Amino acid sequence: MTRYFSLLFVILLISCSDNTKMAFLSPPSIIPKPQKLEVREGSLTLGATMTFYSDPEFGLAKQFISEYLLPNGIVLEPASEEKAFWVLKKDTLLSKEGYTLEVSAKRIIMTARDPEGAFYGMQTIRQLLPPTFENGNLKESKGISLPLVKIEDTPRFSYRGMHLDVGRHFYGKEFIKKYLNYLAMLKMNYFHWHLTEDQGWRIEIKKYPELTSHAAYREETLIGHYNDAPQQFDGERYGGFYTQEDVKEVVAYAQKLNITIIPEIEMPGHAQAAISAYPELGCSGESVPVATQWGVFEEVFCPKEETFTFLENVLTEVVALFPGPYIHIGGDEAPKSHWKNCAHCQALIKKEGLKDEHELQSYFIKRIESFLNEKGKAIIGWDEILEGGLAPNATVMSWRGVQGGIEAARQQHQVIMTPTSFCYFDYYQSEDPNEPLAIGGFLPLEKVYGFNPVPTELSKEEASFILGAQGNVWTEYMDTEKQVEYMVFPRILALSEVVWTGPAKDPTHTYAEFASRVETFHQRLDALGVNYAHHLYKLISMIEKNDGQILYKLQTLSANKKIKFQKDYGEIQTYQDPIPVQKNTVITAQVFDEEKPLGTIVKDSIIFHKGVLGDINLQPEPHPNYSAGGKEALINGRLGSSTRYGDSEWLGFSGEDVTITIDLGKETSFSNVNLRFYHAPGQWIYAPKEIRLYASEDGTHFSQVDRKILDNNETLVHAHFHIPNTVTKFLKLEIPNYGKIPDGQQGAGNRAWTFVDEIIIE
Ligand code: ACM
Ligand code: ZN
Repeated sequence: MTRYFSLLFVILLISCSDNTKMAFLSPPSIIPKPQKLEVREGSLTLGATMTFYSDPEFGLAKQFISEYLLPNGIVLEPASEEKAFWVLKKDTLLSKEGYTLEVSAKRIIMTARDPEGAFYGMQTIRQLLPPTFENGNLKESKGISLPLVKIEDTPRFSYRGMHLDVGRHFYGKEFIKKYLNYLAMLKMNYFHWHLTEDQGWRIEIKKYPELTSHAAYREETLIGHYNDAPQQFDGERYGGFYTQEDVKEVVAYAQKLNITIIPEIEMPGHAQAAISAYPELGCSGESVPVATQWGVFEEVFCPKEETFTFLENVLTEVVALFPGPYIHIGGDEAPKSHWKNCAHCQALIKKEGLKDEHELQSYFIKRIESFLNEKGKAIIGWDEILEGGLAPNATVMSWRGVQGGIEAARQQHQVIMTPTSFCYFDYYQSEDPNEPLAIGGFLPLEKVYGFNPVPTELSKEEASFILGAQGNVWTEYMDTEKQVEYMVFPRILALSEVVWTGPAKDPTHTYAEFASRVETFHQRLDALGVNYAHHLYKLISMIEKNDGQILYKLQTLSANKKIKFQKDYGEIQTYQDPIPVQKNTVITAQVFDEEKPLGTIVKDSIIFHKGVLGDINLQPEPHPNYSAGGKEALINGRLGSSTRYGDSEWLGFSGEDVTITIDLGKETSFSNVNLRFYHAPGQWIYAPKEIRLYASEDGTHFSQVDRKILDNNETLVHAHFHIPNTVTKFLKLEIPNYGKIPDGQQGAGNRAWTFVDEIIIE
């Protein structure tokens, strides 16, 4: 922070101190939240014509705001800096992309160091104006006023991105422009355009016309979920692509919004559509169709000279279209089976002295990097590009977690964080069973809001390599533009705040406060016609054990709301204290604004079985991403969602054998032990093949009671031990991991995940 900023802040405090009412003024709902925002009593009325001075460097900001105001009947007229009602001037002491904004009772003064900051200042003004301005309503211009504010603002991260996969489903250029508008409104500055996929190649390459005449179309598309058995297809040809003229138009549009576009041309994997058009690019040379279902495909580019020639020709055309500094070359999910069986690939490994196929992938990426570096472009790749050795100048996009990002930062490579657990906007955002079909996972708004792109294990120096973060939008289950909006909003609001304002950290920067701004922001989204998801009024319920008692707790994440509930369909009560539970119980509850019900009613059934008051031990601990409910979640009387393994009842274990021991507290008699496993091969989750149950009197010497072989052909796999009149104090379950994921399946070769929810002892 510059000296100028601190001085300004002192003046701010002084000028506010004689305004005793200031504390009661509600701050405007700006997203992302400015770093410093002071509100004063009063407002500034805008005229239908306003004199405006702008530093000549800030043409984009001026153009943006003139075009924004004009349809609302407000015209900006040029004037000198001294005379203008609205001034936008340069201040070289501000930080990069930063700006200040002062709306006083007389005029508007804005400062910025660079054109980006000036543009972001205008996005803030925009959010101070009535939401109806979004759709340009001439009638609104009379008597419009701005609240009196003083703002100092600057982004926490230099990379604030959103991605969109146009391969699985295709969206026309007009939607891409709309998407860019959303990004700009939220001060995001990178659009990662995922242009090539197994299911469709989406960018015109003049030298290879079959990429668009053939590879941009598939014969049909999977209907329903990948995990459905049997899979079904719609029988309809599907596709589309952007011409180079379309791309130029979109790039020019993005430039006006301060957005850099990063095109992604996937290699060596996710290349089946390209290989379908040009089979000689694959190892076998055999013809393959453009993929019609989702997943990871064995068909990858073969690192032959003619493949490199092809890719270099493609990239030459791509480089000419995109002026930004980066080209994304993919690098993720490239199965190595074809390379293992290919004489050319094996000869190349020998010739180049490579250790294995991972080093061959590294060789592939390094060659492409060197070609692009010579053309003045830097590469970005998914975190698999770490395997076999990073290309010297590559930026890593860490998606399989943050570990790849940590490793890359330690190797002094730049990193963009996009871990599935916080940044995958294709995951479900609610536990509501009526949510539109999604790929899986669970990423509610509050979790995105809680994201910190900088892992705590990094030193300060290492942390400086984290450029920022990005939301990824994989579109297997988003066949319409409306569905893209639904999955993106409101999670993009939370992410924009993480990357602009910085991770949530102090009491003024809480999810409840953010949620109340989102609630207000709905008006703007409505005016924009955005199809956003709305789960702000959902209830969070928890089960806690206290002094041998089970307590059911309810919580709403929105501020100033109350909760009403019924226990076993009895009297409706206002929730104040945790509800004691002593038997099987049904709780129904809803959030209220005074007497007005909001959101949906939740219904929770608590199974008061013989394990709920016990103690539990797990070996090993669940994976940190799937341990929300802690080990107690397995004996808290509550089942997980049947469609969201990421909720707080399911625990996930990555590749390990699991042992669960339950101490029932005293000799207990029971006849049944029931449990469930999640089984979703598309997400690398497999129910175990067998499980074993043991009993013990002393917690040390266990004897086997029963063993179950499980069939895993449904999403929920039930294990049911019927053991009449068993009496024991300790129970143990051994759950061997499924093992390596078989060839031909998603994640083949990796060890499977195990997910388990409740162990019901009756
Ligand atoms: C990815 O999600 N395959 C990068
Ligand atoms: Zn090959």
